[in-house]
Amino acid sequence: MSEPQSSLLTALDLVPFGQSGLEARFFALRLTHPGWTQWRPGQFVMVRPSSFGFELPWARPFGICHMTAKHLILFFQVVGRGTQRLAQIRPGDEVRVWGPLGNGFALEPDRPTLLLAGGMGIVPFVGYVHLHPKPWNIHMLFGHREPIDCYPVDSINERVPVDSLREHTAGDLDNFIFSIQEHMQDIAEQDGLVLACGPLPFLRTVRQFALDSGVRTQLSLENRMACGVGACLGCVTRTTQAWPVAEKRGGMVQICNHGPVFWAHQVEL
Ligand SMILES: Cc1cc2nc3c(=O)[nH]c(=O)nc-3n(C[C@H](O)[C@H](O)[C@H](O)COP(=O)(O)OP(=O)(O)OC[C@H]3O[C@@H](n4cnc5c(N)ncnc54)[C@H](O)[C@@H]3O)c2cc1C
Ligand code: FES
Repeated sequence: MSEPQSSLLTALDLVPFGQSGLEARFFALRLTHPGWTQWRPGQFVMVRPSSFGFELPWARPFGICHMTAKHLILFFQVVGRGTQRLAQIRPGDEVRVWGPLGNGFALEPDRPTLLLAGGMGIVPFVGYVHLHPKPWNIHMLFGHREPIDCYPVDSINERVPVDSLREHTAGDLDNFIFSIQEHMQDIAEQDGLVLACGPLPFLRTVRQFALDSGVRTQLSLENRMACGVGACLGCVTRTTQAWPVAEKRGGMVQICNHGPVFWAHQVEL
Protein backbone atom coordinates (compact mmCIF):
# COMPACT_ATOMS: atom_id res chain seq x y z
CA MET A 1 0.00 0.00 0.00
CA SER A 2 1.24 3.57 -0.71
CA GLU A 3 2.71 5.47 2.25
CA PRO A 4 0.53 8.50 3.11
CA GLN A 5 1.75 11.67 1.48
CA SER A 6 0.80 15.31 1.28
CA SER A 7 -0.13 16.52 -2.21
CA LEU A 8 -1.26 19.87 -3.54
CA LEU A 9 -4.00 18.95 -6.02
CA THR A 10 -6.06 21.05 -8.41
CA ALA A 11 -9.86 21.00 -8.44
CA LEU A 12 -11.16 19.98 -11.86
CA ASP A 13 -14.88 20.20 -11.25
CA LEU A 14 -17.56 20.11 -8.59
CA VAL A 15 -20.80 18.44 -9.63
CA PRO A 16 -23.95 18.98 -7.54
CA PHE A 17 -26.19 15.96 -6.95
CA GLY A 18 -29.91 16.10 -6.26
CA GLN A 19 -30.49 19.84 -6.28
CA SER A 20 -28.82 22.64 -8.19
CA GLY A 21 -27.64 26.18 -7.46
CA LEU A 22 -27.58 27.43 -3.88
CA GLU A 23 -29.86 24.61 -2.76
CA ALA A 24 -27.27 21.90 -3.51
CA ARG A 25 -25.85 20.08 -0.47
CA PHE A 26 -24.34 16.98 -2.11
CA PHE A 27 -21.32 17.22 -4.40
CA ALA A 28 -18.81 15.10 -6.29
CA LEU A 29 -15.42 16.81 -6.28
CA ARG A 30 -12.93 15.71 -8.94
CA LEU A 31 -9.29 16.48 -8.24
CA THR A 32 -6.05 15.85 -10.13
CA HIS A 33 -4.37 12.52 -9.32
CA PRO A 34 -2.27 12.55 -6.14
CA GLY A 35 0.32 10.17 -7.61
CA TRP A 36 -0.23 7.29 -5.18
CA THR A 37 0.51 3.93 -6.70
CA GLN A 38 -1.97 2.01 -4.50
CA TRP A 39 -5.04 2.60 -2.33
CA ARG A 40 -7.90 0.57 -0.88
CA PRO A 41 -11.62 1.41 -0.72
CA GLY A 42 -12.44 2.36 2.88
CA GLN A 43 -9.27 4.46 3.17
CA PHE A 44 -9.71 8.20 3.57
CA VAL A 45 -7.97 11.52 3.00
CA MET A 46 -7.61 14.70 5.06
CA VAL A 47 -8.60 17.64 2.86
CA ARG A 48 -7.81 21.32 3.25
CA PRO A 49 -8.55 23.73 0.39
CA SER A 50 -6.62 27.00 0.44
CA SER A 51 -9.98 28.76 1.02
CA PHE A 52 -10.06 27.44 4.64
CA GLY A 53 -7.66 30.33 5.43
CA PHE A 54 -6.81 31.02 9.08
CA GLU A 55 -10.39 30.55 10.33
CA LEU A 56 -10.45 26.80 9.69
CA PRO A 57 -7.05 25.47 10.73
CA TRP A 58 -7.98 21.76 10.65
CA ALA A 59 -8.31 19.66 7.53
CA ARG A 60 -11.50 17.55 7.20
CA PRO A 61 -11.64 13.76 6.66
CA PHE A 62 -13.40 12.27 3.60
CA GLY A 63 -13.61 8.71 2.36
CA ILE A 64 -12.03 8.07 -1.03
CA CYS A 65 -15.03 7.72 -3.32
CA HIS A 66 -13.06 6.54 -6.33
CA MET A 67 -9.71 6.90 -8.07
CA THR A 68 -9.26 6.66 -11.82
CA ALA A 69 -5.95 6.66 -13.70
CA LYS A 70 -6.15 10.47 -13.79
CA HIS A 71 -8.40 11.60 -10.95
CA LEU A 72 -9.20 11.40 -7.24
CA ILE A 73 -12.94 11.69 -6.64
CA LEU A 74 -14.51 12.69 -3.31
CA PHE A 75 -18.20 12.91 -2.55
CA PHE A 76 -19.48 15.09 0.27
CA GLN A 77 -22.54 16.52 1.97
CA VAL A 78 -22.56 20.10 3.28
CA VAL A 79 -23.04 19.96 7.07
CA GLY A 80 -20.96 22.84 8.46
CA ARG A 81 -18.37 25.52 7.77
CA GLY A 82 -15.69 23.31 6.22
CA THR A 83 -17.98 21.55 3.78
CA GLN A 84 -19.63 24.90 2.93
CA ARG A 85 -16.20 26.17 1.85
CA LEU A 86 -15.60 22.97 -0.12
CA ALA A 87 -18.90 23.55 -1.92
CA GLN A 88 -17.58 26.92 -3.15
CA ILE A 89 -14.50 25.42 -4.81
CA ARG A 90 -13.96 26.48 -8.42
CA PRO A 91 -12.04 24.62 -11.16
CA GLY A 92 -8.36 25.51 -10.83
CA ASP A 93 -8.45 26.03 -7.02
CA GLU A 94 -5.74 24.29 -5.01
CA VAL A 95 -6.58 21.66 -2.42
CA ARG A 96 -4.10 20.11 0.03
CA VAL A 97 -4.77 16.37 0.41
CA TRP A 98 -3.09 13.94 2.86
CA GLY A 99 -3.51 10.28 2.07
CA PRO A 100 -4.23 7.51 1.57
CA LEU A 101 -4.93 7.14 5.32
CA GLY A 102 -6.28 4.27 7.42
CA ASN A 103 -6.76 0.63 6.49
CA GLY A 104 -9.64 -0.11 4.09
CA PHE A 105 -12.22 -2.88 3.65
CA ALA A 106 -11.45 -6.58 3.20
CA LEU A 107 -11.71 -7.74 -0.41
CA GLU A 108 -12.46 -11.46 -0.73
CA PRO A 109 -13.53 -11.85 -4.38
CA ASP A 110 -14.94 -15.39 -4.17
CA ARG A 111 -17.02 -14.78 -1.05
CA PRO A 112 -20.63 -13.55 -1.23
CA THR A 113 -20.36 -9.97 0.02
CA LEU A 114 -23.14 -7.81 1.41
CA LEU A 115 -22.57 -4.04 1.43
CA LEU A 116 -24.70 -2.09 3.92
CA ALA A 117 -24.75 1.69 3.50
CA GLY A 118 -26.61 4.33 5.47
CA GLY A 119 -26.74 7.83 3.89
CA MET A 120 -23.24 9.13 3.12
CA GLY A 121 -21.91 5.71 4.12
CA ILE A 122 -22.40 4.85 0.44
CA VAL A 123 -19.24 6.78 -0.55
CA PRO A 124 -16.46 4.15 -0.08
CA PHE A 125 -18.55 1.51 -1.85
CA VAL A 126 -18.30 3.33 -5.19
CA GLY A 127 -14.60 2.49 -5.37
CA TYR A 128 -15.20 -0.92 -3.79
CA VAL A 129 -17.55 -2.19 -6.49
CA HIS A 130 -15.30 -0.82 -9.26
CA LEU A 131 -12.14 -2.49 -7.92
CA HIS A 132 -13.84 -5.80 -7.05
CA PRO A 133 -12.86 -8.39 -9.68
CA LYS A 134 -16.10 -10.41 -9.27
CA PRO A 135 -18.89 -7.88 -8.70
CA TRP A 136 -21.53 -10.59 -9.32
CA ASN A 137 -20.72 -11.78 -5.76
CA ILE A 138 -21.83 -8.44 -4.27
CA HIS A 139 -25.26 -7.21 -3.20
CA MET A 140 -25.97 -3.86 -1.61
CA LEU A 141 -28.65 -2.48 0.73
CA PHE A 142 -28.85 1.29 0.91
CA GLY A 143 -30.96 3.24 3.42
CA HIS A 144 -31.23 7.01 3.00
CA ARG A 145 -33.29 10.01 4.08
CA GLU A 146 -32.74 12.41 1.17
CA PRO A 147 -33.98 11.74 -2.39
CA ILE A 148 -32.00 8.96 -4.09
CA ASP A 149 -30.52 11.33 -6.72
CA CYS A 150 -28.54 13.10 -3.95
CA TYR A 151 -26.25 10.05 -3.74
CA PRO A 152 -23.78 8.39 -6.17
CA VAL A 153 -25.97 5.29 -6.53
CA ASP A 154 -25.90 5.02 -10.32
CA SER A 155 -22.18 4.29 -10.48
CA ILE A 156 -22.72 1.41 -8.03
CA ASN A 157 -25.87 0.15 -9.70
CA GLU A 158 -24.07 -0.24 -13.03
CA ARG A 159 -21.89 -2.95 -11.39
CA VAL A 160 -24.00 -4.55 -8.63
CA PRO A 161 -27.68 -4.75 -7.64
CA VAL A 162 -28.72 -2.14 -5.07
CA ASP A 163 -31.89 -2.39 -2.95
CA SER A 164 -32.55 1.10 -1.69
CA LEU A 165 -35.06 2.24 0.88
CA ARG A 166 -35.86 5.86 1.62
CA GLU A 167 -36.76 6.56 5.23
CA HIS A 168 -39.88 8.73 5.55
CA THR A 169 -41.40 7.25 8.69
CA ALA A 170 -40.37 5.14 11.67
CA GLY A 171 -42.03 2.19 9.89
CA ASP A 172 -39.60 2.58 6.97
CA LEU A 173 -36.67 2.34 9.35
CA ASP A 174 -38.14 -0.85 10.86
CA ASN A 175 -38.43 -2.33 7.35
CA PHE A 176 -34.84 -1.43 6.56
CA ILE A 177 -33.60 -2.99 9.81
CA PHE A 178 -35.64 -6.12 9.12
CA SER A 179 -34.18 -6.35 5.63
CA ILE A 180 -30.61 -5.93 6.98
CA GLN A 181 -31.24 -8.74 9.49
CA GLU A 182 -32.64 -11.09 6.82
CA HIS A 183 -29.78 -10.43 4.39
CA MET A 184 -27.13 -10.82 7.11
CA GLN A 185 -28.66 -14.14 8.14
CA ASP A 186 -28.50 -15.29 4.50
CA ILE A 187 -24.87 -14.21 4.16
CA ALA A 188 -24.03 -15.97 7.44
CA GLU A 189 -25.42 -19.23 6.00
CA GLN A 190 -23.19 -18.78 2.91
CA ASP A 191 -20.10 -18.02 5.06
CA GLY A 192 -19.97 -14.59 3.40
CA LEU A 193 -18.70 -11.15 4.29
CA VAL A 194 -20.61 -8.05 5.42
CA LEU A 195 -19.20 -4.51 5.09
CA ALA A 196 -21.03 -1.53 6.59
CA CYS A 197 -20.62 2.24 6.60
CA GLY A 198 -23.05 4.84 7.91
CA PRO A 199 -24.21 6.68 11.03
CA LEU A 200 -23.45 5.28 14.48
CA PRO A 201 -26.97 3.98 15.38
CA PHE A 202 -27.01 2.09 12.06
CA LEU A 203 -23.56 0.59 12.75
CA ARG A 204 -24.66 -0.43 16.26
CA THR A 205 -27.60 -2.35 14.77
CA VAL A 206 -25.37 -4.05 12.19
CA ARG A 207 -22.83 -4.94 14.88
CA GLN A 208 -25.51 -6.56 17.05
CA PHE A 209 -26.78 -8.66 14.12
CA ALA A 210 -23.16 -9.62 13.36
CA LEU A 211 -22.64 -10.82 16.93
CA ASP A 212 -25.98 -12.70 16.92
CA SER A 213 -25.45 -14.45 13.58
CA GLY A 214 -21.66 -14.85 13.72
CA VAL A 215 -21.24 -13.48 10.17
CA ARG A 216 -17.83 -11.91 9.49
CA THR A 217 -18.53 -8.18 9.49
CA GLN A 218 -16.49 -5.02 9.12
CA LEU A 219 -17.67 -1.55 10.13
CA SER A 220 -16.25 1.78 8.99
CA LEU A 221 -16.35 4.31 11.85
CA GLU A 222 -16.46 7.94 10.79
CA ASN A 223 -15.99 9.88 14.04
CA ARG A 224 -14.82 13.47 14.04
CA MET A 225 -11.10 13.76 13.38
CA ALA A 226 -8.57 16.56 13.73
CA CYS A 227 -5.13 15.24 12.76
CA GLY A 228 -6.06 12.01 10.93
CA VAL A 229 -2.72 10.35 11.76
CA GLY A 230 -2.97 9.16 15.39
CA ALA A 231 -1.43 12.22 17.04
CA CYS A 232 -4.30 14.11 18.75
CA LEU A 233 -6.28 11.20 20.33
CA GLY A 234 -9.46 12.98 19.24
CA CYS A 235 -11.03 9.98 17.52
CA VAL A 236 -10.70 7.02 19.89
CA THR A 237 -12.98 3.99 20.28
CA ARG A 238 -12.95 1.15 22.86
CA THR A 239 -11.80 -2.33 21.90
CA THR A 240 -13.22 -5.66 23.11
CA GLN A 241 -11.37 -8.68 24.48
CA ALA A 242 -11.16 -9.94 20.86
CA TRP A 243 -8.71 -7.16 19.87
CA PRO A 244 -5.58 -8.81 18.38
CA VAL A 245 -3.03 -6.95 20.54
CA ALA A 246 -3.26 -8.17 24.17
CA GLU A 247 -2.22 -4.92 25.88
CA LYS A 248 -4.90 -2.90 24.03
CA ARG A 249 -7.82 -5.25 24.90
CA GLY A 250 -10.59 -3.27 26.57
CA GLY A 251 -8.58 -0.08 25.97
CA MET A 252 -8.89 2.81 23.55
CA VAL A 253 -7.46 2.94 20.01
CA GLN A 254 -7.42 5.76 17.49
CA ILE A 255 -9.91 5.27 14.67
CA CYS A 256 -7.77 7.18 12.17
CA ASN A 257 -4.74 4.92 12.30
CA HIS A 258 -6.21 1.60 13.56
CA GLY A 259 -9.28 1.96 11.35
CA PRO A 260 -11.48 3.50 10.14
CA VAL A 261 -12.51 -0.07 9.23
CA PHE A 262 -12.81 -2.52 12.16
CA TRP A 263 -14.03 -6.09 12.60
CA ALA A 264 -17.39 -5.74 14.38
CA HIS A 265 -16.50 -8.08 17.27
CA GLN A 266 -13.25 -6.23 18.03
CA VAL A 267 -14.72 -2.82 18.98
CA GLU A 268 -17.44 -1.55 21.31
CA LEU A 269 -19.83 1.03 19.86
C1 LIG B 1 -12.98 8.47 7.87
C2 LIG B 1 -14.06 9.48 7.54
C3 LIG B 1 -14.61 9.49 6.27
C4 LIG B 1 -15.61 10.42 5.96
N1 LIG B 1 -16.10 10.43 4.69
C5 LIG B 1 -17.01 11.35 4.34
C6 LIG B 1 -17.46 11.40 2.99
O1 LIG B 1 -17.02 10.63 2.13
N2 LIG B 1 -18.36 12.36 2.69
C7 LIG B 1 -18.85 13.24 3.62
O2 LIG B 1 -19.66 14.10 3.29
N3 LIG B 1 -18.44 13.20 4.89
C8 LIG B 1 -17.52 12.29 5.27
N4 LIG B 1 -17.07 12.27 6.56
C9 LIG B 1 -17.60 13.26 7.51
C10 LIG B 1 -16.91 14.61 7.26
O3 LIG B 1 -15.57 14.53 7.68
C11 LIG B 1 -17.62 15.71 8.04
O4 LIG B 1 -18.93 15.86 7.57
C12 LIG B 1 -16.87 17.03 7.89
O5 LIG B 1 -15.62 16.97 8.53
C13 LIG B 1 -17.69 18.14 8.49
O6 LIG B 1 -16.92 19.32 8.40
P1 LIG B 1 -17.65 20.75 8.54
O7 LIG B 1 -16.58 21.74 8.87
O8 LIG B 1 -18.50 21.04 7.36
O9 LIG B 1 -18.62 20.54 9.75
P2 LIG B 1 -18.41 21.00 11.25
O10 LIG B 1 -18.68 22.49 11.32
O11 LIG B 1 -17.12 20.50 11.76
O12 LIG B 1 -19.60 20.22 11.92
C14 LIG B 1 -20.96 20.44 11.50
C15 LIG B 1 -21.85 19.36 12.10
O13 LIG B 1 -21.50 18.09 11.56
C16 LIG B 1 -21.17 17.19 12.62
N5 LIG B 1 -20.04 16.35 12.19
C17 LIG B 1 -18.82 16.76 11.81
N6 LIG B 1 -18.04 15.71 11.51
C18 LIG B 1 -18.79 14.59 11.70
C19 LIG B 1 -18.56 13.20 11.57
N7 LIG B 1 -17.39 12.69 11.20
N8 LIG B 1 -19.58 12.35 11.86
C20 LIG B 1 -20.77 12.83 12.26
N9 LIG B 1 -21.05 14.14 12.40
C21 LIG B 1 -20.07 15.02 12.13
C22 LIG B 1 -20.76 18.07 13.77
O14 LIG B 1 -20.96 17.43 15.02
C23 LIG B 1 -21.70 19.25 13.62
O15 LIG B 1 -22.98 18.97 14.13
C24 LIG B 1 -16.07 11.35 6.92
C25 LIG B 1 -15.52 11.33 8.20
C26 LIG B 1 -14.52 10.40 8.50
C27 LIG B 1 -13.91 10.41 9.87
S1 FES C 1 -7.78 12.29 14.44
FE1 FES C 1 -6.04 12.70 15.71
S2 FES C 1 -5.74 10.77 16.65
FE2 FES C 1 -7.27 10.34 15.19
